[in-house]
Amino acid sequence: MKKVIVTGGMGFIGSHTAVELANKGYDPIIIDNLSNSSLSVLDGINKITNKNVTFEKFDLTDSIATEHCFQKHKDAIGVIHFAAYKAVGESVKLPNKYYKNNILSLINVLDSMYSNNIPNLIFSSSCTVYGQPDVLPVTESTPIKKANSPYGFTKQIGEQIINDFVNVNNEISAISLRYFNPIGAHDSCLIGELPNGIPNNLLPYITQTVYGIREKLHVFGGDYNTHDGTAIRDYIHVVDLAKAHVKSIERLEKKKNEANHEFFNLGTGIGYSVLDVINAFEKSTGRKVNYEIVAKRSGDVEAVYANTEIANKHLGWKAKLNIEDMTKSAWDWEEKLNSTKS
Ligand code: UD1
Repeated sequence: MKKVIVTGGMGFIGSHTAVELANKGYDPIIIDNLSNSSLSVLDGINKITNKNVTFEKFDLTDSIATEHCFQKHKDAIGVIHFAAYKAVGESVKLPNKYYKNNILSLINVLDSMYSNNIPNLIFSSSCTVYGQPDVLPVTESTPIKKANSPYGFTKQIGEQIINDFVNVNNEISAISLRYFNPIGAHDSCLIGELPNGIPNNLLPYITQTVYGIREKLHVFGGDYNTHDGTAIRDYIHVVDLAKAHVKSIERLEKKKNEANHEFFNLGTGIGYSVLDVINAFEKSTGRKVNYEIVAKRSGDVEAVYANTEIANKHLGWKAKLNIEDMTKSAWDWEEKLNSTKS
């Protein structure tokens, strides 16, 4: 079986990708320091795939440990690099924590790919690289704007580091995947999002509110220039997103890439407002969301959604699950999570 190294493979997107890789006959090798995840995720992955997935626990900012692990798995056909901090607000307060972790780990991954002749890299980037675009939907050639957080800047710098690296090391090819807003959970309810403390993101905040863990959802901003005044995003089911990673690694492995660093937007192409998401949640679950419209959250953009034509064409991939599939699976996961806690 072909090995694929999955850094951050115990996280939300990483765990779903490890499952999809195993489903397609790959052997995922998970690296994670468990700083924002738990060992129980591995049980979920193993149960879904009926396999014993390899797990290596260490911190990718440790160059010696990284080199040692990549040497051990030098037969891997590629690396999918998820491992990174991702809390936008925290990154504003603790910028060096983000620069050190997100940048150093990427540099160590690239160095160890080079020294062990591992040829293919998939990088977790984000639609945050576009900021508030002047024209919607966003294509891959939409201009990159100044990042509005250190987290966002680590994604911009990350793409640039990869560019510079593959330009001089032609034997390595890369794809940067610019995610829009991943939500939802695996339909087995064995893996899903595990927010640490009070959730920053919309869906876990909704599910925790409906479950009774939070009192009410604060909808940030009701006077945006949108159809209902709330901000618009392109939500994508995490399982659809995970499948795009498998397509990306296949594209590089089969040398179908047209440049040594390609970029793809991963979304559905449809923009939903916060109130649209609440409506979809209520419709798909039959539960009411207690919410109040409050002031805008600083740093939020008004509207962003993807043009996904290039990803659809080049990856042979299209998101299939709709907003109600997403909200329903997020709720099923929340219920399962709490039922196993008590
Ligand atoms: C943010 C980042 C994105 C990052 C992602 C992962 C920005 C501009 N985007 O996405 O780069 O990859 O987090 O962590 O920083 N909302 C509420 N109430 C809440 C929570 C959210 O109304 O309690 C609203 C937000 O204002 C926004 C929408 O819901 O309009 C989605 O928010 P969220 O899930 O936090 O994602 P982004 O901010 O879009």
